[in-house]
Amino acid sequence: MELHYHDYLQLDKILNAQFLESDKTGLSAHDEMLFIVIHQAYELWFKQLHHEVDSILHIMQKPALNDNSPELQTVVHRANRIATILRVLVHQVDILETMTPMDFLDFRDMLRPASGFQSWQFKQLEAKLGLKFENRYGHEYYLSQLRPEHISLIKKAESNKSLLELVDTWLERMPLAPPLDTSQSTSFWNEYRNRYQNSLADAEKDHLAMFDAIFFAVDREQSASLSPRACRAALFISLYRGYPLLQLPFQLLNGLLEIDEELSSWRYRHMNMVHRMIGTRIGTGGSSGKDYLKAAADKHYIFKEFARLNSFLIERRKLPTLSPELEKRLGFVGS
Ligand code: HEM
Repeated sequence: MELHYHDYLQLDKILNAQFLESDKTGLSAHDEMLFIVIHQAYELWFKQLHHEVDSILHIMQKPALNDNSPELQTVVHRANRIATILRVLVHQVDILETMTPMDFLDFRDMLRPASGFQSWQFKQLEAKLGLKFENRYGHEYYLSQLRPEHISLIKKAESNKSLLELVDTWLERMPLAPPLDTSQSTSFWNEYRNRYQNSLADAEKDHLAMFDAIFFAVDREQSASLSPRACRAALFISLYRGYPLLQLPFQLLNGLLEIDEELSSWRYRHMNMVHRMIGTRIGTGGSSGKDYLKAAADKHYIFKEFARLNSFLIERRKLPTLSPELEKRLGFVGS
């Protein structure tokens, strides 16, 4: 039999998966259909996000990802797709906001104790990207609201290598950043440190100690995800991203910041919608509602250490000149 659109997309299942609680009770609430469909649409997009993240994790886990290979291009392309999907997810809130608080009240109590908080796909996605249990806000909600089988899925993602950890390893391996040689005053990193120091305003002088802790320490800072070596590589990529070999690595780091920013925009849009919809009442999942969401939004930035590195950039015209050998290595192969 020929493949039919209806069967290929399993529309029987998808279009027959909307069961309104308000219909069950006979208290019809028109907007409950929108509420269900929009959540289902979100969950489908979460599924697609997992598909993209899993493929990136798979590539990044390879012991020798070649920065000059098509694989890095694939990683960057998919990271950008993730950011684009997240951008659409932020805008989808517009549709839900056509529902007024009174429309929502028509069926809200029928949903208790179900809540978006129980979206295990969302929590699993955060974990795959790099959010660790100890860094989550509200452990008690997390453990009490999710089903045991969903907690295990998220725990498994937490114990596997996350994208953040894999990027740390990839940066550590990066062969192109100049080595750290603090014994030589003319070494690249000593020179960069001097120039950074000269760029600091009086009120910023204490930043030099931070610089040393992040880039020059032997071990990574306590609870830091990025090692000093990885931080140096990431900073170097940002500073000299104009060189051909550093363009894709830069796009990857930029893509991670884009993902974090879109995720954060989603959290804030969702939080503001919740505020508008239920004021300061507690959520159907039993949390403090808006206050919980605000605290989670502030705490759950995943790639914040990359954003922090941008505090240590200096003006392009003040950058140390690279040795001719290094310049050659950063150019197109064969040039
Ligand atoms: C009328 C619309 C909505 C309201 C009033 C609302 C309300 C809330 C509240 C109060 C929470 C905190 C947990 C709780 O106590 O329940 C929450 C969490 C959450 N909601 Fe919504 N929500 C709405 C729509 C959505 C939509 C469309 C999605 C899309 C999937 C969603 C996904 C989530 C997620 C993932 C969380 C957990 C966030 C975290 O733990 O960081 N919500 N929601």
